[in-house]
Order: sequence, then C-alpha cells, then structure tokens
Amino acid sequence: MGRIITIANQKGGVGKTATAINLGAALANKGEHVLLVDMDSQANCSKGLGFYLQMEEMSMRDVLTDPISGISKAVRDTAVDGLDIAPSNIYLSATEVELTSRVGGDLYLTRALRDVMDRYDHIIIDPPPSLGVLCLNSIVAADEKGEIPLPVFPGGKGQSKTDWAMKVLAVD
Ligand SMILES: Nc1ncnc2c1ncn2[C@@H]1O[C@H](COP(=O)(O)OP(=O)(O)O)[C@@H](O)[C@H]1O
Ligand SMILES: [Mg+2]
Repeated sequence: MGRIITIANQKGGVGKTATAINLGAALANKGEHVLLVDMDSQANCSKGLGFYLQMEEMSMRDVLTDPISGISKAVRDTAVDGLDIAPSNIYLSATEVELTSRVGGDLYLTRALRDVMDRYDHIIIDPPPSLGVLCLNSIVAADEKGEIPLPVFPGGKGQSKTDWAMKVLAVD
C-alpha cells in the first residue's frame, strides 16, 4: 500500500513543486516506485518533467471528472526510471469550479487513487497555492495514510499563510 505525501502551503513560490519533483526523483533513484500527482492548474510539476499537455490529452482534469474509473488512464512514464506522473494543465481550473459545488467534492482524489495504491511505494501530491477544493482533495488524500509537509517561506507573509494552513489542518 503506497504512502501518500501531500506537500502543501497556501503560499506560492515556497518550493512545493521543487520538493515534489526532487523527492520523487530521489526515491525513484533508490529503487522505489513513485507517482507524482499534479493538482495545480499551473502544471509546473508536469512542465518540469517535460509534459506540456494539450486539452485533449488525458490529465488530472479527466481523473477528477470521473474518479470511479481511477487515475491509471492519465499516468505517464517520466525520463526517471520508477517515477510516473499524473499530469495536469490549465483546464484543471475549470474542474476546480465544478468540484466546489459538489457534495463530497473534497473526496474525489482519494477515490481516484484507490486504483493505484498497491502499485506504488509513494504517491506525492503537488497541490496549488491555495486552500481551495483541489488543495483540500490533496490534503484529505494524505490524511491518516501519509504525511503533509509544509514548506515555509521565511518572511511575514509566508509565516501568516503557514499559520492559517496549520489551523485548517487542525495542527496544534
Ligand atoms: N530549496 C530551494 N532553493 C532555492 N530555490 C528553490 C528551492 N526550492 C524551490 N526553489 C525555486 O523557487 C521557485 C518556486 O518554487 P516552486 O517549487 O515552484 O514553488 P511552489 O510550488 O511552492 O509555488 C522556483 O523557481 C524554484 O526553482
Ligand atoms: Mg507549485
């Protein structure tokens, strides 16, 4: 059963995506099977690994639209042995609007990941810099089954957003 790691902070530019890619690559280089899940419509994690998806290509948008059929349909091999990615693109922003109005809209990623939990040692989720429904899906997926590291930018704004994220996560 794969361990789920969600690298979250409401603030952008604190190194969430860089941590996700490098942690994923480091674990893969040690022989582990790793899936990166790009939950940010800016798609920096996907682009960082060379995936610039067109609208018609399978992405996290399709996965979250129909979570029952699972995430496998979107998963791609990367250039790093043992490292796969479920990429996204800008169209994920439309999904964010749709999920916000659905009952249980924060559980879609958890459901989609069931499909691949046994196939990976680690699943690393890269959420957007917000505490919206895509970030909540990412946090709920890691809850009780994994870890939620919060990269922090050493400054006043970074500190206040980290404090807020910890309140939302109910961390004392
Ligand atoms: N540990 C680090 N040291 C120096 N620069 C970093 C580090 N981590 C990330 N960066 C740089 O900071 C910028 C933002 O990082 P990124 O991972 O995209 O942040 P986020 O995903 O939180 O928005 C990028 O240009 C990235 O290369
Ligand atoms: Mg990012």
